[in-house]
Amino acid sequence: MTTVACIEDLRQIARRKVPRAFFDYVESGSYAEETLRANREDLQRLKLRQRVLVDVSQRDQSTSIIGEPAALPLALAPVGLCGMQHGDGEILACRAAQAAGIPFCLSTLSICSIEDVAAVNRPFWFQLYVMKDRGVVRSLIERAIAAKCSALVLTIDLQVMGQRHADIRNGLSVPPKIRLRNVIDVATKPAWALSILRGRRKTFGNLEGHVPGMENVSSLASWIAGQFDAALNWKDVDWIRSLWPGKLIIKGVLDVEDARLAVKAGAAALVVSNHGGRQLDGAPSSISALPKIADAVGSEIEIMFDGGVRSGQDVMRALALGARSCMIGRAYVYGLGAGGQRGVARAIEIIAKELDVTMALTGIQSVKEIDQRVIVPA
Ligand code: FNR
Repeated sequence: MTTVACIEDLRQIARRKVPRAFFDYVESGSYAEETLRANREDLQRLKLRQRVLVDVSQRDQSTSIIGEPAALPLALAPVGLCGMQHGDGEILACRAAQAAGIPFCLSTLSICSIEDVAAVNRPFWFQLYVMKDRGVVRSLIERAIAAKCSALVLTIDLQVMGQRHADIRNGLSVPPKIRLRNVIDVATKPAWALSILRGRRKTFGNLEGHVPGMENVSSLASWIAGQFDAALNWKDVDWIRSLWPGKLIIKGVLDVEDARLAVKAGAAALVVSNHGGRQLDGAPSSISALPKIADAVGSEIEIMFDGGVRSGQDVMRALALGARSCMIGRAYVYGLGAGGQRGVARAIEIIAKELDVTMALTGIQSVKEIDQRVIVPA
């Protein structure tokens, strides 16, 4: 890991180590991947303003996220199937995040269950997908309360699933199907196979035994289509609010009107996000949506950001445009595939170091100072 210099290096290692169907699951966006690409391109278009001869000998990256102290303005986003990138992937990612002093968010569609992660880690965040069966939703919330999760992240941009072509072509299923193509692929990835064999679980840990028909999910997309609730609306958010006594984060807001509704719903924070370009293809990049939302509701609700963050420079760009913190998805998942806990730790460390140097070269002493002045006006 010491020769790994950037997130792209971790991605290249993960590509070699993780079987194709699971690597492609991480890489892909929906349909023509226009929004996936726009997330990166629009971030890179923002040029940072170099400042010199400012005393930057003391630099401070510490902040708070929804009132929790954080060593960096960063959190690990909820990502499904982390336990298929590396055995016990969610436990390892949570450990790496907590060692770095930042929040970890467990996905509903994780392999390790809420209880598995809670048994070996301090409190973390739990991300909720709302299923048609409200009994399942209620029980997930109760389990998150029992595990002392410190925030509930309600994802609202996946009532219907955007198609990712690669998952169809690869026949992505959980657990993986034994097909000749898969067997050959896995045979060349022995370290991955061993880690999965040793892992606690091979299927959706939060749902196994709780949702009928999910044993041996042959097609992830069709199963999700059957379970996820297209009727979900803001009234359901009130219902969730009544069950969840703690902090609520609403994830997947891209529009000012929806941001105002998230404020009304009493959320502690919202995440400006297009699900990493995996849902509405043709939607604006997250970074282009951020300033309008920050202007409209930034004084009433904490703003988080995700979508395309691969470096400390990107974190600075998002903070400059109004976010208080960023979530990273793929950036840490590449680390997980590349090297388990050490790989996730390395991903966080890389971004922290890049942010530190970027602060120095833009004349910034504390992340709390970062605002639009660090961006070169267009
Ligand atoms: C996701 N994302 C996601 N979001 C969520 O709320 N629940 C989930 O289970 C998942 N699963 C998931 C799987 C994979 C493979 C990816 C790449 C993403 C979206 C995620 O939380 C986040 O919004 C994006 O990953 C942010 O974009 P970047 O950082 O990956 O570019």
